[in-house]
Amino acid sequence: MTAVVANAPGGLPLIGHLVPLVRDRLEFLRRLPAHGDLVRVRVGPWKALVVTSPELSHEVLRDDRTYDKGGYLFDRIRETGGNGLVSCAHRDHRRQRRLVQPSFHRDRLPGYVGVMSARLDEVLERWRDGGTVDVLADMQSVTARTMVPGGLSSSAVEEVVDDMNVVLAGVAWRSLLPKSLDRVPTPANRRYRRAQERLRRVVTTVIADHRAGGGDHADLLTGLLASCDPGDGTPGLSDDEVHDQVLTFLLAGTETTANVVGWALHLVSRHPGVERRLRAEAAEVLTGGDVTPDDLARLTLARHVVLETLRLYPPVFLLTRLVTKDVELGGHRLPAGSTVAYSPYVVQHRAEHFPNPESFVPDRWSDGEDPPRGAFLAFGGGARRCVGDTFGLLEATLMLSTITQRWSMRPLPRSRTRPATSLVLRPRALHLRSRAVPS
Ligand code: HEM
Repeated sequence: MTAVVANAPGGLPLIGHLVPLVRDRLEFLRRLPAHGDLVRVRVGPWKALVVTSPELSHEVLRDDRTYDKGGYLFDRIRETGGNGLVSCAHRDHRRQRRLVQPSFHRDRLPGYVGVMSARLDEVLERWRDGGTVDVLADMQSVTARTMVPGGLSSSAVEEVVDDMNVVLAGVAWRSLLPKSLDRVPTPANRRYRRAQERLRRVVTTVIADHRAGGGDHADLLTGLLASCDPGDGTPGLSDDEVHDQVLTFLLAGTETTANVVGWALHLVSRHPGVERRLRAEAAEVLTGGDVTPDDLARLTLARHVVLETLRLYPPVFLLTRLVTKDVELGGHRLPAGSTVAYSPYVVQHRAEHFPNPESFVPDRWSDGEDPPRGAFLAFGGGARRCVGDTFGLLEATLMLSTITQRWSMRPLPRSRTRPATSLVLRPRALHLRSRAVPS
């Protein structure tokens, strides 16, 4: 006999846990471990078993055949990202991953860092001493520009960012709604479809430009396109697959990194001591020439601030898997077809591995030891671990260090930044005052 899975508290007939999830999703998640390592959560017909311990999360992530992509959430992600690397099922995964991996080869990193640095400068040029910065919008603008080839105009990039925001928010609420509602011509449905279509058109243009022989730019999408079309006779990805992959990279790589840097600036603006140390480190390492990946490796404190931010506010905070065969997990029997959810947010807020889990303590990363398996999942784990982890960490570290070197960011009087949760965990209303640091 296997144990019965505990229900999360606060469920009501028919609507399930909708009320606590809408009221404060993060608090609801933080409380789940008190009810067991596996806890049942329900919203209307949507049911999931949330794994709350590092050990069970690791068990789920290391077996990506049994715990596959699919179900409510990934079906909705597929509506835009198609069968790209984030949403494809296990059977397609290894081949796709092998093909995209060269775009992250070490040799390409110096070129990417050059592009990141140039795009960040373009956005920082707009900042004014004593001005108010819409931090998340500007960080999204930098990370989106880093992805796309330089030929895309600023207004086209801003449009891509807006469309991605609409699509990501749409995926989150659509995953809780029946598909029959998709066809209802509500303003939200129309906005979602328009944003999807525009993103598809941009991707088609980017691919066409690349194939027309735009040369080897150093942006990530150009790197990706080069590795998808090896051009040496080895079969690459089909045209549809390339399209899905480009859109997937845009969606997976832009928002995540922008949100981490946004949250990091929010935290640093409230910890002036950390800001001073970051500035001193940047002064030693970023001395004016072209920035290289080796320079970034020396920005130890900036990296620790990024890791601590990822721990407190993992952009991807809750994800699901579809159980493909009957299986036992933590003493419970799960039938094929069940949905299991893992949550970087839940495991990273457990006190066993992160004492004082709600406090911002960048120095907890300075012993150089990795947290135990399954305890830090901001980049996921197992075969489906983030393929852009190094790229994202490099970019976030560079952005944070460069910004604190040049600007002192302070909260506006009486402002309160709170987390907003859709598909990503973002800072809501993050406006900071920028003060130029004398050079
Ligand atoms: C700090 C920034 C980032 C965070 C926190 C992050 C987080 C994640 C997480 C949690 C997953 C696992 C998803 C799952 O288990 O279902 C993932 C996968 C993925 N990420 Fe990232 N990501 C970041 C940056 C990037 C960047 C910059 C790119 C691309 C340029 C990227 C592309 C992808 C892709 C393609 C996958 C799917 C990998 C696979 O299934 O093989 N990510 N990411």
